Amino acid sequence: MMYSSKVMEKFRDTKNYGKIENADGIGKVGNAKCGDVMWIYLKIEDEKIVDAKFETFGCVAAIATSTTAIDMVLGKSVEEAYHLTNKAVIEALDGLPPEKIHCSVLAEEGIKAAIEDYRKKLATS
Ligand code: FES
Repeated sequence: MMYSSKVMEKFRDTKNYGKIENADGIGKVGNAKCGDVMWIYLKIEDEKIVDAKFETFGCVAAIATSTTAIDMVLGKSVEEAYHLTNKAVIEALDGLPPEKIHCSVLAEEGIKAAIEDYRKKLATS
């Protein structure tokens, strides 16, 4: 199995790794098959994503797609970020091996879960 050089570069890039205290939205998703888990933390101001971090306990593809998804939603509106697709993340990484496509689904789901958490909190506050 071969990863693109972009995937390896993103895997080693730790700038988006971490936690946000008092995050406005937290998404936790996992893949039951491989057992990998991902947390996405979002800081949102005026419906705009002003900060985002991830913690992923998973494979190279899961980590590379988490950080890439974060790069892609930073500075975007919540609505735009909600429509981020795993396909767009894969394209930004110059592709993924076919058996690793499911890992990118975690990144899309993680962002969506964090936004849903944010919206739920908004509705109840
Ligand atoms: Fe589990 Fe990649 S193998 S997310």
